[in-house]
Amino acid sequence: MAVRVALVGLGDIGLTAHLPALVRAAGVRVAALVDPDPLRRKLAGDLAPAYPDIDEVLADDDIDAVVLATPPWVTTGAIVRVATAGKFVLAEKPVATSVAAAAPLLELSPNISDHVQVGLTYRHDPAMVQLREWIADGVLGERLVVRAHIYDERLDPADPAHAERLRNTLRHGLPVLHEGSHFFDWLAYLLGGEPMRIDDAWSMRTDRRAEVPNLTGARLTYPTGHIAVVECGWLTAGLPPCEVSLLGDRGYAVLDCHTFALRLSTEDGDRVVEFPGERTQRCFDRQVERFVALVNGSRPSPSLADGLAALRTSEQVARACAEGEA
Ligand SMILES: NC(=O)c1ccc[n+]([C@@H]2O[C@H](COP(=O)([O-])OP(=O)(O)OC[C@H]3O[C@@H](n4cnc5c(N)ncnc54)[C@H](O)[C@@H]3O)[C@@H](O)[C@H]2O)c1
Repeated sequence: MAVRVALVGLGDIGLTAHLPALVRAAGVRVAALVDPDPLRRKLAGDLAPAYPDIDEVLADDDIDAVVLATPPWVTTGAIVRVATAGKFVLAEKPVATSVAAAAPLLELSPNISDHVQVGLTYRHDPAMVQLREWIADGVLGERLVVRAHIYDERLDPADPAHAERLRNTLRHGLPVLHEGSHFFDWLAYLLGGEPMRIDDAWSMRTDRRAEVPNLTGARLTYPTGHIAVVECGWLTAGLPPCEVSLLGDRGYAVLDCHTFALRLSTEDGDRVVEFPGERTQRCFDRQVERFVALVNGSRPSPSLADGLAALRTSEQVARACAEGEA
C-alpha cells in the first residue's frame, strides 16, 4: 500500500524539492496540498486536492503522513496538531524560532514525538557518512580544526522578492538561527555530539535594509577538543566559497557545500570523492525514503531531539553573537 502524504506549505522548498521528491518516491502517493496562498496552490498544479488550511488533512483518515514545508513560526504548532492527530510528520528545520517557542514540542509524549522526523536533509548525504567514517577512523588526526563557511543567499538586485523574503525571515532570528539547524546538526553528527562550549561569537549588519545583523560567526569547542570556526551570512553581492573544511595532523578534507564533493589530502596523496546525482535531489530522495521507513515502523532519523539540539546550539550562538555585539 502506498503511503498517502499531504504536503503543507507550497513555498520555495515545498515546490522545488519536497513535491518532486514525493512524486519520484516509490510507495508514496501525494494525497493533498495545503497553502493559504491561492497563487502557491495554483503553482503546485493539480496533482492532488488543494486546501487553504490543514483542517481537511487532519480530518482525513486516509492520509497517513504530512510533510511540513512551512516557516518555523508556523511549523511548531503544526507538528503538535498533526502528530497528535495520529499522523507521521516530516517537519522542515528549524522546528521553532527559539527554544522557548519549541516548548510545546517538549510536552509531546514519546510515542507521539517518535512519529516526527526533522528535515535536517543533508545529514542523509553519503558525503556526510564518508566524512564521519574518516573522522572516526582517525584518517585526519585525533583533534581537528573545522571551518564551516555557509554562504548561499546572495543579494541579487534582479530578484528583490528573494531579498525581501530573507529580510522577513531575519525578523525571526539571525541567519545562524535558520542555517545553523543544518550545519550544527552536521557538526554534532561528525564530531561526536553537542559542543562543550561557545568560545566567542560575532555579528555584523551590512545590509542596510535588514533589521538585524546579516553576517554571523562563532568559535566552538566540541568533545575530544575539536574546534569549529563557523561563519554564515546572507545578503551580500558576492559570496565566499560555501564549504566545510577539516584539518588535523594527518590530513585535510574539504566538503563543497554546493555539490557535497569531498577532497581529501593525506600523506598518501590527494583524492576527490564524488557521489552520483545532484546533491539536493539525492538528499531529498533519501529523506523521503527514511520517512517512508518511519511510517513502516523504523525510528525517526533525524529525530525531533536532533532538531531541538541543532536549534539549541543555533540559539546559543545567536545569543552569544548579540552579546558580542553589545
Ligand atoms: N531542508 C532544506 O534544505 C531547506 C531549504 C530551504 C528552506 N528550508 C526551510 O523550509 C521552510 C520553508 O522555507 P521556504 O524557503 O520554502 O519558505 P517560503 O516562504 O517560500 O514557503 C513557506 C510557505 O508556507 C506557506 N504557509 C504559511 N503559513 C502556512 C500555514 N499556516 N499552513 C500552510 N502553509 C503555510 C506560505 O504561504 C509559503 O507558501 C523554512 O523553515 C526553511 O528554513 C529548508
